[in-house]
Amino acid sequence: MSLFQYALKVREHAHAPYSSFKVGASIRTSSGEIYVGCNVENVAYPEGSCAEAGAISAMIAAGESVIEEICIVADSQFPVSPCGGCRQKIAEFSRPETIVHLANLKGESRQTTIGDLLPDAFSKSHLSRK
Ligand code: THU
Repeated sequence: MSLFQYALKVREHAHAPYSSFKVGASIRTSSGEIYVGCNVENVAYPEGSCAEAGAISAMIAAGESVIEEICIVADSQFPVSPCGGCRQKIAEFSRPETIVHLANLKGESRQTTIGDLLPDAFSKSHLSRK
């Protein structure tokens, strides 16, 4: 199964009764393993979580931390673009060249990198005061 197919499949499990906007995300790590996540909304709206966050949690819980590629799929007019918070979360476990595949259900997709999606990212180098 392709990375896109994993994201498509997990998207079906999304809990999105408030936005009706289901999102699926799949990550391939440096070991070749795939981790998936979907958005999980809550009646207290700010408590919801994004698909990318779910996939990252699954990866970390499995003891992995190096994203090689990530794919995000939603039923959007254009290939879905990750929210700002998710760009920061993806960057934590990526290199700037890490590939991000954006797709929709119409079969449209585009490929970019996390460096292009989040230029001049806040990183651990900024934590240093020296
Ligand atoms: N959503 C994601 O899962 N990932 C994104 O990058 C953008 C937004 C979810 C959050 C919410 O459940 C729904 O899409 C509508 O914003």
